[in-house]
Amino acid sequence: MIDSHCHLEMKEFDHDRSEVIERGEKNGITHMITVGTDLMHCRKVINIAQTYPAVYAAIGIHPHFAKDIDQSTYDELRKLAKKDKVVAFGEIGLDFFRNISPRDVQIKGFKEQINLAGELNLPLIIHDRDAHQEILAILSEEKKQGAGGIIHCFSGDYSMARQCLDMGFYIAVSTTVTYKKNHQLRDIVKKLPMDRLLVETDSPYLAPSPHRGKRNEPSFVKYGAEKIAEIKGITLKEAATITSQNTLRALGMKMDSEK
Ligand code: NI
Repeated sequence: MIDSHCHLEMKEFDHDRSEVIERGEKNGITHMITVGTDLMHCRKVINIAQTYPAVYAAIGIHPHFAKDIDQSTYDELRKLAKKDKVVAFGEIGLDFFRNISPRDVQIKGFKEQINLAGELNLPLIIHDRDAHQEILAILSEEKKQGAGGIIHCFSGDYSMARQCLDMGFYIAVSTTVTYKKNHQLRDIVKKLPMDRLLVETDSPYLAPSPHRGKRNEPSFVKYGAEKIAEIKGITLKEAATITSQNTLRALGMKMDSEK
């Protein structure tokens, strides 16, 4: 199984990061994609990925921090992208729920980073909160041929999911799919093709039932995979295998057998 989106770099894991990663591996998590949100954390994700074989890194500036972007940010990201184990560019996007950076600044930073990812030939990891229409419009305008990537913690409707698939993106289902009230996400999972779905925890956030309210961690990705298996009428092993293959394909990574 693969946790396609977590934040092992966050301070919530500073006191027991090794144990969390080990617990993930013991629970069959072969890859954990840990995702940077600002330059300091981007450096940290690369260090963690280079320390632990099962951890891989994504780098980019989260929309919350778009207001801190200047030209030197992009120079630094270009350098970091060359480091070993960097597999994706993100998380980037729009957050019109919290609006920590002004909306126009978020949009500018998002477009510039889509282009930078294209230049660096890295797949995108997209953050979308309450900005579905703008995300779709920008992705279809800016997306360069073959860029693609992952819509992280998908929260749009079925029509949006279809449009994302048409643009070549994969849909990441977070462990919130286990929440009693999250019928919308379960309905979307039911309708979407299995070969375009990924699972993720977004840990330390969004812990699944039955751990809701506590710190989330990569080993809990199994609750998301179990729910997908239940919805799709397949076994957990099948759900784990297929979502893992999808993640590796989305990120242009090799299967273990091909290494
Ligand atoms: Ni995230």
